[in-house]
Amino acid sequence: MSQPIVQTFGVTKIYRSGQLESPALQGVTFQVKSGEFSAIVGPSGSGKTTLLNLIGALDVPTEGRVQVLGHDIETLSKRQRSDLRLHSLGFVFQAYNLIPVLTARENVEFVLELQGVKRDRRSRAQALLDQVGLAEFAERRPNQLSGGQQQRVAVARAVASNPQLVLADEPTANLDGENAELLLELMKTLNEQQGITFLFSTHDARVVAHARRVITLVDGRIDRDEQR
Ligand SMILES: Nc1ncnc2c1ncn2[C@@H]1O[C@H](COP(=O)(O)OP(=O)(O)OP(=O)(O)O)[C@@H](O)[C@H]1O
Ligand SMILES: [Mg+2]
Repeated sequence: MSQPIVQTFGVTKIYRSGQLESPALQGVTFQVKSGEFSAIVGPSGSGKTTLLNLIGALDVPTEGRVQVLGHDIETLSKRQRSDLRLHSLGFVFQAYNLIPVLTARENVEFVLELQGVKRDRRSRAQALLDQVGLAEFAERRPNQLSGGQQQRVAVARAVASNPQLVLADEPTANLDGENAELLLELMKTLNEQQGITFLFSTHDARVVAHARRVITLVDGRIDRDEQR
């Protein structure tokens, strides 16, 4: 737990559409070290999703630098950013984002296929589902699973590439308290046993309670940064 795997330097993000300018981030400088289990909190519109999208190489800053796993994301081509996402990062979104016509196992296998994994995709997908406690649910499609189960499939898919960093934007927003708790425990186990770094945003105080570091954004700036 020492190497910074994410570093941002004076990051500003301004969304422009026509004459309208929305400043979403205003000079964010911070780092995330390998092994962290950290939460980003703050009011609606404070810039949490924008910051996660920049770290996830889904977007580039207006000003400043974002360095992820040694890459300056604003210098990468679209193709290089997409490779970085596919091979080194994992994503969990609020709305599960599973492919509805595929079973849980096929959803995980599909990511392995995109990653160019040639062998044992089926057994690897099954092993990932076992790991998130869904061994018996592998052949179900998303609409045959509860929200909590779907989000566990999303976590299995996110860690399929053995990523160093998983980014999760409000992963428990659609879950009830008990399922939110189970999902956090799953993420924490993956953090502790496999050393995967997690950076997640949340509005939920129970979820924040699990974090070892809490970064508070207000109006696109870091207002507080507390270690627990
Ligand atoms: N694509 C966009 N175009 C224009 N403005 C945007 C866009 N995305 C976000 N914004 C604006 O940028 C600011 C930060 O938005 P962001 O989505 O990062 O906030 P957030 O902290 O994730 O909020 P929430 O808790 O509601 O998810 C807001 O003022 C928002 O209206
Ligand atoms: Mg958001």
